[in-house]
Amino acid sequence: MNRVFRRSARAYQQLSVGGVIYVCVLYSSRAIGSEAGLLSGVGRTTQYYSFSKFLCELLNQAVHMSNPIMKGAAIQTELSAVAVLDGKTVLITGANTGIGKETALDMAKRGARVIMACRDVEKGEEAAASIRAAYSKAQVEVRELDLADTCSIRAFAQQFLRDVNQLHILINNAGVMMCPYTKTIDGFEMHIGVNHLGHFLLTYLLIGQLKRSAPARIVVLSSLAHNFGWIRFHDLHSQGSYNSGLAYCQSKLANGLFARELARRLKDTNVTVNSVHPGTVNSDLTRHSTLMTIFFTVFSMFLKTPREGAQTSIYCAVAEELHSISGKHFSDCAPAFVAPQGRSEETARRLWDVSCELLGIEWD
Ligand SMILES: NC(=O)c1ccc[n+]([C@@H]2O[C@H](COP(=O)([O-])OP(=O)(O)OC[C@H]3O[C@@H](n4cnc5c(N)ncnc54)[C@H](OP(=O)(O)O)[C@@H]3O)[C@@H](O)[C@H]2O)c1
Repeated sequence: MNRVFRRSARAYQQLSVGGVIYVCVLYSSRAIGSEAGLLSGVGRTTQYYSFSKFLCELLNQAVHMSNPIMKGAAIQTELSAVAVLDGKTVLITGANTGIGKETALDMAKRGARVIMACRDVEKGEEAAASIRAAYSKAQVEVRELDLADTCSIRAFAQQFLRDVNQLHILINNAGVMMCPYTKTIDGFEMHIGVNHLGHFLLTYLLIGQLKRSAPARIVVLSSLAHNFGWIRFHDLHSQGSYNSGLAYCQSKLANGLFARELARRLKDTNVTVNSVHPGTVNSDLTRHSTLMTIFFTVFSMFLKTPREGAQTSIYCAVAEELHSISGKHFSDCAPAFVAPQGRSEETARRLWDVSCELLGIEWD
C-alpha cells in the first residue's frame, strides 16, 4: 500500500512540476513573442520540439519512479555508499544550505577534507557546525567565496592554492534563481554572472590543481530548466529585455555547455567533468520568486529533500563506474536527456570564447 502511494506520489510530482513549468513556458513564450529579436535563430518548431522531448523526459521519469527497483535515486546511492574518500579534498560552492550542504555532509562522512566555499561565512560556519554535530570526525572548513565578484573568486583561489596541496573533487553547486534584475560587481547579469561566469573563472583558476591531483572530477549543477534556455549572445546580460525565469534557464544551459566543452578540452588528463540535474528539490532556491515559493510549499511533500537532491551530485563525484565518463549529463544517478541547444558544439565553443573575453582570461 505504502509502495503504491509512493509510486503515485512520484508520478504526480513529475506531472505537476511539468504542468507548472509548461504554464511558465507558455507565459514566457508570450513574453518572448513581444520581444523583437529575443529568440533570433530559434524557431517555434525548435521550442516545441524541445518541449515535447522534455515532456517525454518527465513521463520517462514517472515510469522509472514507479519501478520498484529504482525506488528513487536517493536510496540507490545511499545503499551503495562504498566509495571512501580518505585523503581526498573536496571543494563545494554554496555549501551552507540545500543540496550543497547535504553533499558536504556526505563527502565528510566518506572521510574527505571538505572545503565549503560560501559567500556568507557566518552561515557557512553554522552549516559546518551542524555537519560536525551529525558526524564528529568531519573535516570541514569554511572559506569565503562570492561568485558575484571576480576579485573575491581570485582571492579565494589564491589563498586556496597557497593552503591546499591537492583538489580531487570540485562541485560547482552554488546558484541563484529568478532574482530581480541585478548585476554582479563586474557588471554581469546575476544569473549568468554567478551560475556560469563565476564558476567558469573558479574552475579556470583551479584547473591546474585538479590536473596535478588527477584522477579528479568536476561536477557542475545544471538543471532540467536548460530545456527552456537559449544563449542570447546578442544580449547575454539581458539589458534589452529581462525575464528572470529565462535568465535562469540560460544560465543553466550555460552550465551544461560549459561541462561538455570542458570535458572535450580535458580529454586524456584524467580529470572528468559531468553536469547534473538534481531533481526538483525543496530548498531555498525559490527565495526570489513568490509564485515558486508558494508552489514549492504546496507541493513540498512531493518534492525531493535536499538530501535526495544531493544524490546525483554525489554519484557523479564518487561512483567507481564513472571514473572515465566525461561530458555527460545525469539525473537520478543515470544519464539524462540533453536538449538540442545543450548539445551544440558550436554554441559551446562560442560561449567558451565569450566567457573568456568577459573574464579577461585566456583558456585554451
Ligand atoms: N532546488 C532545485 O529544485 C534545483 C533544480 C535544478 C537545479 N538546481 C541547482 O542546484 C544548485 C543548488 O541549489 P539549491 O536547491 O541547493 O539552492 P539553495 O538552497 O538556494 O542553495 C544555493 C547556494 O548557492 C549560494 N550562492 C548564491 N549566490 C552565491 C554567490 N554569489 N556566491 C557564492 N554562493 C552563492 C547560496 O548562498 P546563500 O545561502 O548565502 O545565498 C546557497 O549556499 C543550484 O545551482 C541550482 O541551480 C536546483
